Amino acid sequence: MTRTVMISGASRGIGAAIAARMQAAGWNVSLGLRQPETAGPDTAQRLACRYDALDPASEHDWTQATIARFGRLDGLVLNAGIHSRATVLEAADDEFDRLMAVNVKSPMRLAQLAWPHLEALPDGKRHPGRVVLMSSLSGKRVKSAGSGLYGISKFALMGLAQGLRQCGRDSRVRTTAICPSFVATDMAAGIAGDTAELTQPEDIAAIVETVLGLPPTASISDIPVHWSVEDCY
Ligand SMILES: NC(=O)c1ccc[n+]([C@@H]2O[C@H](COP(=O)([O-])OP(=O)(O)OC[C@H]3O[C@@H](n4cnc5c(N)ncnc54)[C@H](OP(=O)(O)O)[C@@H]3O)[C@@H](O)[C@H]2O)c1
Repeated sequence: MTRTVMISGASRGIGAAIAARMQAAGWNVSLGLRQPETAGPDTAQRLACRYDALDPASEHDWTQATIARFGRLDGLVLNAGIHSRATVLEAADDEFDRLMAVNVKSPMRLAQLAWPHLEALPDGKRHPGRVVLMSSLSGKRVKSAGSGLYGISKFALMGLAQGLRQCGRDSRVRTTAICPSFVATDMAAGIAGDTAELTQPEDIAAIVETVLGLPPTASISDIPVHWSVEDCY
């Protein structure tokens, strides 16, 4: 039976590149989008559902619709995210809350909803699926004051990844955090330099396809990806 992957934030940028790559690789793709109507008509291999990280009911409905349509879940890509340039000294409570809600709390709820389906097929047969979280190098180190608040959310996402890894120890559901530096998307526009020099969304998509295709005997905690070279990464 064809493998199925859910991808959040697949409207553009890294998520859209992952969706295109996974569909080309023959997977069923279930896209979580704030405006699914913009994705065009569904196809046999592709389903677009409403997903808004600020609306927990949409997470439940998207997960249910995916299983109803494709009957199984093999991969969950927690990609949707937002950025902030606030330093930790300027950050207001509401901005902190919004970043945590979109970048951390919604991914955790989605993982909770998807987990039983990643552990087993509808007939109860075990089949370990995989979780990929789109974190950031800002989840491993903070290089500028303007990455401070965003960094808090991505450090927290790394904590979620570590927690999920432990939850999958016995069922063999493996979790991997991808940690890019600048990727040439809307998010990096105006922050990073020449987009042609940056990591491309398609580069990240190729990494995600590889990770999702690995057997559970290859457990990878995180993959740092830099567009160039810095001291550690
Ligand atoms: N670009 C970089 O340099 C970079 C580096 C490291 C990590 N990352 C991470 O990679 C992931 C993807 O980023 P990107 O560069 O592709 O950014 P992007 O081009 O800005 O796309 C962000 C995606 O997240 C979705 N999204 C935002 N708020 C949402 C919400 N409340 N509910 C559901 N979806 C929401 C957007 O949907 P709409 O189209 O509806 O707005 C869009 O699909 C993010 O987690 C980001 O933190 C990016």
